[in-house]
Amino acid sequence: MIQISPSVLACDFSRLGEETALMAAGGADMIHLDVMDGHFVPNISFGMPVIAALRKKSDAFFDVHLMISRPLTYGADFVKAGADRVTFHLEAEDETAAVLDELDRLGVEAGISLKPGTPAEAVFPYLERLKMVLVMTVEPGFGGQSFMADMLPKIRAIREEANRRGLALDIQVDGGIDEKTAPLVAEAGANVLVAGSALFSKPDYKAAVSALRQKAQEAVQA
Ligand code: DX5
Ligand code: ZN
Repeated sequence: MIQISPSVLACDFSRLGEETALMAAGGADMIHLDVMDGHFVPNISFGMPVIAALRKKSDAFFDVHLMISRPLTYGADFVKAGADRVTFHLEAEDETAAVLDELDRLGVEAGISLKPGTPAEAVFPYLERLKMVLVMTVEPGFGGQSFMADMLPKIRAIREEANRRGLALDIQVDGGIDEKTAPLVAEAGANVLVAGSALFSKPDYKAAVSALRQKAQEAVQA
């Protein structure tokens, strides 16, 4: 089953609570929260206080994507703010195994994200410890960029390795996902689709979520 994770980076931030509620009511499986520190990526978005405020208004599953240099330092703060899953970058400064130990200790689902230049094999040593791998399909930092089709073999390689080991791993994709690219990533083995501009630009969120899911689902069933 394909899951849809709308990225609020593309929403009207002055109405963050309402936008989140509308997406959740529209059938989104979770809400994707992009945290950027202006150091790991050349952009700054929002941090713990915003997530904590949103947590008070929403019982949706919070899929937190940390584009920050020091996930070990801030992991506990994001869990306290209300993250249900914390995805951090393999390319961050902290030692990957230490961040996973910390997320285990905090009792939160863990995901590792790969920038476009990082090969699939880099995440293989950690697969057994992960709920999810996030394959970035754009360079992290900004919404509204074009999908990188050359990431499809990476998705495929991770899915094949997870299958070989008998792991029910979630593979998430993030960046340039829309009704055209959703079938491509789903066919390659992704089952959790992040979409910002493609969903929040539509007038009817419920129709947009279900159309995106449908497109991806058809590609898996084909
Ligand atoms: C980019 C973020 C994405 C972004 C996706 O660094 O991680 O989640 O919001 O935006 P779209 O779907 O517009 O490419
Ligand atoms: Zn993201």
